[in-house]
Amino acid sequence: MPVAVTGSIATDHLMTFPGRFAEQFVEGQMENVSLSFLVDDLVQHRGGAGANMAYGMGLLGLNPVLVGAVGSDFADYDAWLVRHGVDTASVHWSDVRHTARFVCTTDAANNQIASFYSGAMSEAGQIELAPVAARVGSLDLVVVGPDDPTAMVRHTEECRERGYRFAADPSQQIAWADGEMIRSLVHGAEILFTNEYEAALLCQKTGWTPDEVLARVGTWVTTRAADGVLVRQAGHQPLEVIAVPETKPVEPTGGGDALRAGFIAGRTWGLSLERATQLGSAVATEAVEVVGTQEYRLDREPFLGRFAEAFGADAAAEIAGHLAA
Ligand SMILES: Nc1ncnc2c1ncn2[C@@H]1O[C@H](COP(=O)(O)OP(=O)(O)OP(=O)(O)O)[C@@H](O)[C@H]1O
Ligand SMILES: [Mg+2]
Repeated sequence: MPVAVTGSIATDHLMTFPGRFAEQFVEGQMENVSLSFLVDDLVQHRGGAGANMAYGMGLLGLNPVLVGAVGSDFADYDAWLVRHGVDTASVHWSDVRHTARFVCTTDAANNQIASFYSGAMSEAGQIELAPVAARVGSLDLVVVGPDDPTAMVRHTEECRERGYRFAADPSQQIAWADGEMIRSLVHGAEILFTNEYEAALLCQKTGWTPDEVLARVGTWVTTRAADGVLVRQAGHQPLEVIAVPETKPVEPTGGGDALRAGFIAGRTWGLSLERATQLGSAVATEAVEVVGTQEYRLDREPFLGRFAEAFGADAAAEIAGHLAA
């Protein structure tokens, strides 16, 4: 039974301005700003939390079903995801809006001017999960990742109504959502994912203690960047898993999504909580060692070698049988 991943699908367009923004602003003319920066570098990355998670699961051979909304400019990105094992047949294509886009220019002093266009993502709330389940047979798990807020609420409610197991991954949306919305996204989740900061904010906004959160979810996975991962379940000793040590400069964006992909793949394969978390940790390290959130690969032998070094030969043997050749 496949896993469905709902969440944002977006592209990042990142430019570098060799000067300093501050030198371009004219005092007294801030009411009529008209500036154009001649940039010397443009990189484009495929991103969006839903697509990032689906990419990682695709690499692991899970053939996840991506659920989200895009625009008519999505064809190349679509082909990329399909090539990496993602089922994109349930992606909603907008007739009128472009795919969500983050455009950011960074100057020589690391100042940034950025815009985010949510575009087609605003149509994700129109998507119903039942036809997705009907198309693929049934759904093993629905990941409700950061997305248009209406979509996140709708997907979560539909999961509860139809009895689909779901993973709550509100991520950065916790920052602006109110306590009531966060409570509605979380309660009844099979898995809750947060980073440490989001974990604290979630408790603050919902008014729940960690134990009260654990009473409402099956498993709570909290990522702690280089300090690894904390996995909690009500009535059990917390489990801590190390971050697989990085060997290249770290660009942390995308680590969280990759960790989720590995963890969910591991659990779908029937691995223990510890082994699945280790898999997530290993996938996350591959992701943070490259720039871009879908630029990493999981070449079988080097990946298994590194996994064995971090977690032992027996643990590596256990995942080897599940990894694509
Ligand atoms: N410096 C690092 N070294 C090794 N692994 C890292 C490092 N930073 C992140 N990771 C891996 O990525 C996982 C997720 O990182 P983090 O806790 O920073 O999530 P996040 O803040 O949600 O990240 P994202 O930018 O993807 O949203 C960590 O659990 C770890 O496995
Ligand atoms: Mg995150």
